Formats: sequence, C-alpha cells, structure tokens
Amino acid sequence: MTLTSEPGVADGAVLPAVRAGALDAYAIRDEFPILSREVHGHRVVYLDSASTSQKPRAVIEAVDAFYREYNANVHRGIYEFGERSTNAYERARVEVARFINAPDSHELIFTRNATEAINLVAYSWGRRNIGRGDAIVLTEMEHHANLVPWQILVQERDGDLEFIPITDDGLLRLDVYEVLLRVKPKLVAFTHVSNTLGTINPVREMVDMAHAAGALVLIDGAQAVPHVPVDVQSLGADFYAFSGHKMLAPMGSGALWARRELLEAMPPFLGGGEMIREVHLRRSDFNDIPWKFEAGTPAVADAVGLGAAAQYLRGLGMDHVRDHERDLLAYALDVLPREVPGIELYGPLDVDQRGGVVPFNLPGIHPHDVAQVLDRFGIAVRAGHHCTMPLHERLELAATARASFNVYSTRDDIDALVAGLRQVQTIFEG
Ligand code: ALA
Repeated sequence: MTLTSEPGVADGAVLPAVRAGALDAYAIRDEFPILSREVHGHRVVYLDSASTSQKPRAVIEAVDAFYREYNANVHRGIYEFGERSTNAYERARVEVARFINAPDSHELIFTRNATEAINLVAYSWGRRNIGRGDAIVLTEMEHHANLVPWQILVQERDGDLEFIPITDDGLLRLDVYEVLLRVKPKLVAFTHVSNTLGTINPVREMVDMAHAAGALVLIDGAQAVPHVPVDVQSLGADFYAFSGHKMLAPMGSGALWARRELLEAMPPFLGGGEMIREVHLRRSDFNDIPWKFEAGTPAVADAVGLGAAAQYLRGLGMDHVRDHERDLLAYALDVLPREVPGIELYGPLDVDQRGGVVPFNLPGIHPHDVAQVLDRFGIAVRAGHHCTMPLHERLELAATARASFNVYSTRDDIDALVAGLRQVQTIFEG
C-alpha cells in the first residue's frame, strides 16, 4: 500500500514559529484558536497542559478533513473513502512511530490513552508472565494509571509490588532500586517524567539496571512525549506507553510501542473484529501485529489527529520544545519565590532534571480555593492530588496546585500567575 499524505504539516517542514533555533511561543499561540478566547473578561492563561494540551489548527483541520472529506471505516471498504481512510490511519501510525524513533511502525499500537496502553500490557503480558511470588517494581511517584493496573494484576496472580522511594526533592533513590532488583523482578515500570513534580527520570540507566537483573521495563511516557525528545531505541525500554491528548492531539488518541517479539508472543487484549484473521465457531486465528491489539473499529480521526500532532511537533523540533520549557521552568522557579511571599514549591531544584511542571501551595489557603480565584482572572491551573495520591501521602501533602507548560506557554503566562497569586493572598489574608 502506498501511504499518501493527508492534511497536516508537510514532511520535514520547519514552521515559522521556530526562529533562530528557538521557539517563538507568541507565533505558536496564534496557531491555537482556543488561546485567543477570553475567560471571565481576561485573556486565557492556560497553565494546565500536564492535564491536557490545547490543539493547533493543523490537528483540528486534520480531524475536520477526515469527517468532511473521507470518513469511512479502515481495512474494509474497497472504495475511494475507505482507501483514503485506511491510508491516513496507517500513515499516522508511521508518523507517530517515527516521532519516537520506533524501528518498525508495526510495533506501534493505537490505544485510547496511556492508561489503556498500560492496561493492555498488564492484561496481556502480565497474565501470561506474572505468577505467585513474582515481583513488579514501581516507584512512589507513579500516576494511578501506572499503579492500579499492576495492583489488580498482582492481587489476581498472587504477585508482589515493590516501590522505589523518592527523596524529599522528588528524585528516585537509585541506591534502593539497586537493592530491590536483587529480588529479580519480572518487570520494572516507571514514569519517564513525573506529572506532579516534573522529575525527569534517568531512563537509560534504570533500563540497563533492570535488564542486568533480568527484568523487562515499561515506561509511562505520557508526560515525556510532549516535552522532551523521545527515542525508544536509545532508551532501550521494552514497552513505552503514551497519550495523544497531552501532545497536542485529540482526546482518545494514544499509543503503546513494544518490541516486536514481545507483542508477537502476547495474547490479544480485546477480542472482536479487526484483530482476527479467521474465525470459526469454536476458535479463531489472530491478525498480525499491530492489528491483533486493535479490536473493533478504531478511533480513526483521532489517530489521524495524533499523526498530525506528531508532524507538528517534529516541525518545531523536540530539542527546541525542551529548551523553551526549560527556560519557562527556570523563570518560574526564580520569580515565584521572589514575588509570592511564602509560596511553597515542590520537585527537583535542578531544571535539567525536570520538565515544565510547577506544583505549589500557598500556606493556609486550600489549593482548590487558589485555583478558583485564579480562574476569575482567566488563569487555569489544576488543584488536587493529580492522580498521584501515594506521592502526596509520601510528601505529607493533602493536595497541591500545579502550573504546567507546553509549546504555547510564555513568560507572560507566568507573570499573570504571579499577579493572580498575589490577588489570592490579598483576598484570603486581607
Ligand atoms: N494525568 C493528568 C494530570 O496529571 C490528568 O493532570
């Protein structure tokens, strides 16, 4: 099949939003229609990108074009729309695989999100490979998506969970990890970038340690793929899961990458149409990968949007994206403690070990109140436990407020946050 281009960014195009080797976030903002909206009479200051990102025109138009111009099911219709739809879907797979430097696009399975990708591994690989007394090593900083599926698995299979602890600054204790590996776990699963603290974990080093101990490694890349260059080959992991909606793509798009031999040995996750080659009343033969893991009609438009998002980010250059967000993080970590008296910040101090995520508290003011007052000024931050209750327990925090960045975030957004937080303090402290 020839894969032709559907709407998105032309192959290898450098967007005007990159100038002199740096992102021009102000030009980028113009490509995100939602960011020109007003909220409560103020320009929107969207600082909740770790929760979900906004979408550029290239993605919105790719989804729109799918429904307007060639909506049809994939791998079925032998007619113009069906061919185009299949083409666009498989082209998106190639694009997303290329974005994470997967060696083979057939190793890339479309899922609804990172959660579904991790559950796929827990149900399919896990139920075949985890038995009584087998250990899985996780960390104290995991999102519930990379914790609960493993809890369910070990409860059912009588296995064990072990946890790599963190320092008070939110770094993993690799000395303890080394000790935990002596129990010869079957799997080590951890986040590439923490959604709550922003910690960028030393993936390659941890993968090498796990492999030396005979364990496979699953990486939760949900907060990494939008923000740092990801190359699954150089990371060396066995499974890499991520969501599309945090990387400028539609809600309901996501992917699992895994090494071919693992996927081929794994039983299907869901059964139904599309994932079969032949079906008889009492047995079926399954399709090749990746389709073996894509039962039912897939979210084609969302996958096409994910492909467009990957193209868009590739056009910006992930090194530029990372530099931009590191600059914003350094600015925020400098200005917030100077301008907002008493603010408590959490997470690693070194911006080289951290993505663009800033959790904080204003002493004596509940983070929900902080977020609610900020909203009056058009500023969106998340408040709560950010799907990391055990991490909050470890840090002895009931909740935090969290500001998080993406390619369209600017220093003006951080200045607006500072001004908003001072208003919060004025309101609550008089
Ligand atoms: N995992 C998302 C967050 O961190 C929802 O906000």
